[in-house]
Amino acid sequence: MGADEDVALEVAAKLTDESLPWVEKYRPKSMDQLVAHEEIISTINALISANKLPHLLFYGPPGTGKTSTILACAHQMYTKSYSSMVLELNASDDRGIDVVRERIKDFAGTKQMFSHLPKLIVLDEADAMTNPAQMALRRVMEKFTRNARFCLICNYGNKIIPALQSRCTRFRFAPLSAAQATSRTTEIAEAEGVEYTADGIEACVSLGHGDMRRCLNVLQSTAMSAARVDRASVYTCTGKPQPEDVERILKSLLADDFATAFARVKEICVQHGLALIDVVSDLHAYVLQLDCADKLMQMQAVVWLAEAEARLAAGTNEKVQLAAVVGAFHAFRTTLKAT
Ligand SMILES: Nc1ncnc2c1ncn2[C@@H]1O[C@H](COP(=O)(O)OP(=O)(O)O)[C@@H](O)[C@H]1O
Ligand SMILES: [Mg+2]
Repeated sequence: MGADEDVALEVAAKLTDESLPWVEKYRPKSMDQLVAHEEIISTINALISANKLPHLLFYGPPGTGKTSTILACAHQMYTKSYSSMVLELNASDDRGIDVVRERIKDFAGTKQMFSHLPKLIVLDEADAMTNPAQMALRRVMEKFTRNARFCLICNYGNKIIPALQSRCTRFRFAPLSAAQATSRTTEIAEAEGVEYTADGIEACVSLGHGDMRRCLNVLQSTAMSAARVDRASVYTCTGKPQPEDVERILKSLLADDFATAFARVKEICVQHGLALIDVVSDLHAYVLQLDCADKLMQMQAVVWLAEAEARLAAGTNEKVQLAAVVGAFHAFRTTLKAT
């Protein structure tokens, strides 16, 4: 019976593992699987081994490994007693003032008999906590420092009230570098037996913009929909403009007359299923790179693009906005020629 149960559990674990999205399936389980933020990890490791773990505040953009880092730390610290020593509260739980008063107090207030380690309370997405709850947390944190440590995680450090910030040691998680994201993405593509090319991985990484979660999601959705992960399939699958398309659009905007440029850009967008808003946000980088003697005009063009992007995000008519963008380039390029 016992053995049967074990087998059943194993099968269930395998099944759920297979159906998990790759971001979860390959969530780093130990500190050495994390590919970035070496200084933060070594600092925390040193604090753990000296048994001097302070309250922590992790902040930084999504997909940079904040949740993974603290969970890996916790697994390393508590090993088998993890479930009795760690309380994870996440944005999907209700974290109003009652939770702080009751659940956290209950958990932090009882001391673990056979452990010299403090308990750990992870408040993921702490910036979603109400202000009164954050206020209440101040006192709880101080009162139970003997028994428990807190780790607050959020995207914006300044959404945490100053009184809490000052009680924590702050760590900023920067976006992953292209090299770090590339190595992890390649590792996972290998593990999944995906057929890929180097420029396919490069495209996933470049669309991820330092967000590892996004890199992996792009990789997985492309692997599911195309036979091979290469540059073209990644851009087709995500519907993002390929650099060549943006270059063609830019060329037309800088050279053709109004009606031709308008028709040309529209044609390229329709052909490749591109959203004008993605094209506009990519054009922005190109405009900044143009060698233009009239810097003021160049900045004005950037402002025009930003305004068009904001209007598109608000859901305005694409045709009208496209005309505005073409018009903006007309005004901009006269000074380009003059210089
Ligand atoms: N530093 C990293 N090393 C390896 N994988 C990472 C790293 N950061 C993020 N990931 C991947 O991205 C996913 C999301 O990371 P997570 O820790 O939840 O990010 P955050 O909490 O900062 O939004 C993880 O499951 C993992 O697959
Ligand atoms: Mg997280």
